[in-house]
Amino acid sequence: MLVAIPKEIHPGENRVALIPSFITSLTKVGFKVQVEAGAGVGCFYADKAYEDAGATIAPNAEALYSSADILFKVRPPEPSEVGFLREGTTLVCLMDAFLRLDLMEQLAAKRINGFGLEFVPRITRAQSMDVLSSMAAIAGYRAVIEAAELLPKYFPMLMTSAGTITPAKVFVIGAGVAGLMAIATAKRLGAVVEAYDTRPAVKEQVESVGAKFVEFDLETEGTEDSGGYAKAQSDDFYTKQQEQMKAKVAAVDVVITTAAIPGKQAPVLITDDMLQAMQPGSIIIDLAAERGGNTEGAEAGKVVEKYGVRIVGTTDYPSRSAVHASQLFAKNITTFLLNMVKENEFSIDLEDEIVKGALLVHDGQVVHEMIKPLMAQKGE
Ligand code: NAI
Repeated sequence: MLVAIPKEIHPGENRVALIPSFITSLTKVGFKVQVEAGAGVGCFYADKAYEDAGATIAPNAEALYSSADILFKVRPPEPSEVGFLREGTTLVCLMDAFLRLDLMEQLAAKRINGFGLEFVPRITRAQSMDVLSSMAAIAGYRAVIEAAELLPKYFPMLMTSAGTITPAKVFVIGAGVAGLMAIATAKRLGAVVEAYDTRPAVKEQVESVGAKFVEFDLETEGTEDSGGYAKAQSDDFYTKQQEQMKAKVAAVDVVITTAAIPGKQAPVLITDDMLQAMQPGSIIIDLAAERGGNTEGAEAGKVVEKYGVRIVGTTDYPSRSAVHASQLFAKNITTFLLNMVKENEFSIDLEDEIVKGALLVHDGQVVHEMIKPLMAQKGE
């Protein structure tokens, strides 16, 4: 079977789904690998590096898609790419399925086996397939680097002959993968870091990477689902959280927000009123900007200034670290595929929790339990 890797065509996307060093783990179990010419340029892998590792090169996307049995991609396919897909192909990528119901329909109509890597369950056996964690960690790191670049202050404490510089204060909201990496990075740069999460279970992790865990007087029962993810809360909960966080955000230089609820718009945690209370010159990095943002006024892909506070809605941090992002992505996607290979035979085993968890489209139908009801609503 042929595993094919196209060049990503989303504007500004530098990542590639497979890097040369993972080719042998696929060829070893009988796959052939084909790469579109130029697929690796965004992260500095020439076609020759893929050829040397055992892949063949397809001259363009159309040629690549028409021979693919399994297609590895980073981003969901664009309409032109869906057009190239051959019936029966297995597609593995980040599918963004909640927001791309039309794509789900198109893939079903073409009888594609569509896997969304964002749905790989966060269980121990699937840790090495967890693309979301790989990318979120990069985002957490880059968020701090961007904040440090924009903040008109030093991060570390400095004793100079001209006086003492106090360290920057950073407040991280949401201590999941991105949040914990942001805390660790801000600490390394010398900031004083505090963090808050609605799941009290993360207090220990926050402290282990060097931040103080801030506690608010909020009901924390029922903030976590059985998979360890945050659950959406009531408007009343968010209003109370905003009231209690107002003084905290007003006292810091940098706020990094990462609060995400799977499948939902991001909750608004920083209101316009809170922005007015912040010190001019402060920076908010809103990692949830693509999902509407945790900050009122945040815009995906833009820096918005309000009351002297800059709200950064960057959405492509993983692509800015394309070399490592592609390395991690390649490891995750390769492990995901190899889990479906038994005795050199590829098959889609619906009894496997990981396979079933990530399978969105199969046999001409949208099959995922979380997406099916949305498709039904859409059809009404
Ligand atoms: P995660 O699910 O591991 O962590 C999110 C955390 O937010 C959880 O610990 C959750 O309990 C917490 N949370 C939820 N509601 C909260 C509230 N009201 N107050 C405080 N904490 C709350 O998610 P992960 O993987 O760390 O991703 C974080 C965000 O980063 C997501 O929005 C993701 O889409 C985004 N991201 C952004 C990228 C970019 O380039 N901008 C790239 C990759 C991820």
